[in-house]
Amino acid sequence: MNILIFDGDEKLNEAAANIIAGLIQTKPRAVLGLATGGTPVGIYRHLVSDFKLGMFSFKEVTTFNLDEYAGLPADHPESYYAYMRRNLFDHIDIQPFQTHLPNGKAPDAEEECRRYDELIDKAGQLDLQLLGLGHNGHIGFNEPGDELIGGTHVTELAEATREANARYFQSLDEVPTRALTMGVGTILKAKMILLVVKGADKADIVKRALQGPITTKCPGSLLQTHPNLVVLLDQAAAEKLA
Ligand code: F6R
Repeated sequence: MNILIFDGDEKLNEAAANIIAGLIQTKPRAVLGLATGGTPVGIYRHLVSDFKLGMFSFKEVTTFNLDEYAGLPADHPESYYAYMRRNLFDHIDIQPFQTHLPNGKAPDAEEECRRYDELIDKAGQLDLQLLGLGHNGHIGFNEPGDELIGGTHVTELAEATREANARYFQSLDEVPTRALTMGVGTILKAKMILLVVKGADKADIVKRALQGPITTKCPGSLLQTHPNLVVLLDQAAAEKLA
């Protein structure tokens, strides 16, 4: 694993965006796995401004997002579909039919998960998977537990996850209780994983995920097994690393 530590949010965002941009420049038909949440917002902002400078095009890029809340329609402002349009897709030349998120309103969620896995399989391996890390060690919405699931599945969100995401909703009650998420098998099959973590509140979980035992109780720890893991941290998130 390659750990890079940055002094300041902007430098970190720029470095992450440069890695993604470099991939698209060398492989215009790249297949990207994307994340939502607070962490990637600045990375997407950099990608949009590089795109506007004409540095590369997303015309042939395909994307698969990690997850979507179950029960939220795509046009709900806090759906991950709306997040991706707001932060990235509406500002670049990506072809909408080449962007994918699980449908949180699918009448048969299990069937939707199977459909999503088939789409990912058809696209071939993800060239790069961008990941954030939950305070409890989740990646995507693969929450800590006795076992983890390989493919896309419906998951109960941990209370800590709902509480962390309540900042985007009017109240905790409005935060969905379930989500459709890519499984750890799919995540780990990506050719490259770009894990980005920021903030002192994540320092303990960064230490557990990167230097603790590999365990389903901390799904992020499975990333230690990946042959091409690049970790970008700010100084606060890195402060407990040995
Ligand atoms: C987002 C996702 C989550 C987040 C994680 C960190 O698509 O799957 O695993 O990456 O919850 O969220 P932030 O960045 O808001 O701290």
